Amino acid sequence: MITGTGHAVPKRVFRNEEFVGIGIDTSDEWIRDRTGIRQRHIAGEGETLTSISAEASLKAMAVAGVTAAELDMIIVGTCSPDRLLPSAAAELQAALGATRAVAFDVGAACSGWLYGMQVAEGMMAAGNAETILVVGAELLSRIVNWKDRNTCVLFGDGAGATIVKRSTKQRGILSTYMRSDGALANLLYRPKGGAAEPMTQQILDEGSHLVSMQGRDVFKNAVRSMADAVDRALDGAKLSANDIDLLIPHQANVRIIEATAKHASVSMDKVFVNVDRFGNTSAASIPIALDEAIAQGRVKEGTIVMFVAFGAGFTWGSMVERF
Ligand code: ACO
Repeated sequence: MITGTGHAVPKRVFRNEEFVGIGIDTSDEWIRDRTGIRQRHIAGEGETLTSISAEASLKAMAVAGVTAAELDMIIVGTCSPDRLLPSAAAELQAALGATRAVAFDVGAACSGWLYGMQVAEGMMAAGNAETILVVGAELLSRIVNWKDRNTCVLFGDGAGATIVKRSTKQRGILSTYMRSDGALANLLYRPKGGAAEPMTQQILDEGSHLVSMQGRDVFKNAVRSMADAVDRALDGAKLSANDIDLLIPHQANVRIIEATAKHASVSMDKVFVNVDRFGNTSAASIPIALDEAIAQGRVKEGTIVMFVAFGAGFTWGSMVERF
C-alpha cells in the first residue's frame, strides 16, 4: 500500500502563448481545445531528472516516515533518463544515499509508474522487499522536437514519488492489470539514435532521435486500451463503477480522460484532472496527480482509487487501491 507521496516540477512554467514566440505555428486556443493543456513546467539549467526525482522522493519519504537507509528497493519509471547508462534509479539511489536499496528502471513510457507499482507489489509478495520507493519521472522537454507542433505542445517535465509498504487487510491494492502491444511501437517512438542506429550528425540534424508520434492513431488506441484497463480493474477488484471514489487516469489529454471516464461510468466530478497545469508528464503524471489529490483531501483513509495508464510501447494497465 502507498504510505507516502510527493512531487516536484521544474521552476519554469511555459504557457501555451509562448510557443508562438519560439516560431511554432499554433495557438493557445488550438492547444486548449484539442488537449485541455494551458501550461507545462520545463527544466532549466541545473535541473535534472535526478534532482527533481530526489526532491519528490524526499517529500514522499518524509510523509511516510521512511529514511533513505530503510529503502530496500528503488524503481523508476522513465523514458527520459539523465543518462542512457546507468539507470535513473541508480542515480537516484546515489542522490538519496539509499545504500541498501536495489535500484532499477522500468521502461514502459507513460505506464512506467503503474508498471513499477505492480513490480513492487510482486517483489513484496515474493518477500524480496519491505519498503519500496516507486518514482515516475520525466524531462520530456529534453527529448521532444521543439520544431514539431504535433508533439512539442503536449509534453511537460516533472516527478512523482510513492513509498510502498506491505498491505494490511483493510488497505492496499485490490486489483492490477498490465498489457503491452509492441507491434504498434512506431506510432510513438524515437526512431534513431539508439543501438540499432547510433547517433550521427545526420540523425542530429534531422531530429530523428527525438519523439515522433502519429497523434490520431495514438489517440484511438489510448481510448480503446484505457477502456479495456478500466473493465479489467473493476472485474479484478470485484467492484462496480459506483464503488470507485476517485479515478486518476494518465494525464495525456482531457479528451482521452473524458472518454475513459465515460466508458467507466464515472462522472467527471470523481475524476482527477491536472493536465491543464502540467501537460503530459508521461510516467510522472499519475503520481503527481495522486499527490495533489491527497493534498486536496480527495484521497483519505478508506478512499477507493482507480488508476489507469497508457503509453508508448504500447503499454497500458490499471490498478485499484483502497487507501
Ligand atoms: N497547433 C495547431 N495545429 C496543429 C497542431 C498545433 N500544435 N498540431 C497539429 N496541428 C494540426 C495538424 O497539422 C492538422 O492539420 P491538417 O489537418 O492541416 O493536417 C490538424 O491540426 C489536425 O491534426 P490532428 O492530429 O488530426 O488533430 P487531433 O484532433 O487528432 O489532435 C492531438 C491532435 C492533440 C495530438 C491528438 O491526436 C492527441 O491528443 N493524440 C494523442 C496524443 C497523446 O496523448 N499522446 C501521448 C499518449 S501516450 C503517452 O502519454 C506517451
